Amino acid sequence: MQKKTFIIANWKMNMSVNNANKFIKKLDKLNYKKKKFKEIVICAQFLLLPSLSKISRKNILLGSQDCHHEPQGAFTGDSSIDLIKFFKCKYVIVGHSERRKYHYESNHLIKKKIDLISIKNLIPILCIGESLEERKSKKYKEKIYGQLNESVSNKIKKLVIAYEPIWSIGTGKIPSYDEISEISNLIKNFFVKFRKNCDLSIVYGGSVDSLNFRKISEIKNINGALIGGSSLKYSELKKIVSSIN
Ligand code: 13P
Repeated sequence: MQKKTFIIANWKMNMSVNNANKFIKKLDKLNYKKKKFKEIVICAQFLLLPSLSKISRKNILLGSQDCHHEPQGAFTGDSSIDLIKFFKCKYVIVGHSERRKYHYESNHLIKKKIDLISIKNLIPILCIGESLEERKSKKYKEKIYGQLNESVSNKIKKLVIAYEPIWSIGTGKIPSYDEISEISNLIKNFFVKFRKNCDLSIVYGGSVDSLNFRKISEIKNINGALIGGSSLKYSELKKIVSSIN
């Protein structure tokens, strides 16, 4: 059977309301063959979600790029999981390296977010990955193992892991297929051994485009990609989506 492939767009802090609406309407009209094997998710910034949630969609799901770890309260500037759910998101990205870097998010905090997202029956997309220094000094496996161990509890039933080496994000550099394969096997083995009850999918993220998407998705234990820059270009995303017809 053909494996399930995720195409997850992380739009980050980009797109106007108008452009986002037009983009999604257009993308949704593409006639997807083998639809049940594809999960197309657009993760947009919070303020776009109310408007995007009103667009009728047959082929595209919505996700947010973060959430707060408490359901509600005195947390100025943050967004709650209930509103994210109200605006029809099915997925929530957590632990993106940009959040870890600019908002000092720790594995401990990310774990709380994952627990809350799961309690609310949404699906967390947990981003993990090493820096260039960690890769060069051969500490990358340790880093990834630690991120998994500290942020995913035994209770989690469904999860997408995005392996995003920090040095690959927005740089045009991607690891070799063997390197991606090594990490996807490490992740898979961790779950088989220590988090048996979790329905796990693994995607790769970092400089994915229409030229490398297909080969990356064909790697064993990889179910698609989390895409930044290329997901903002309609022609690129269209090619990516069509490449798994
Ligand atoms: P790029 O695809 O632009 O490298 O970004 C990857 C990313 O950070 C997705 O979350």
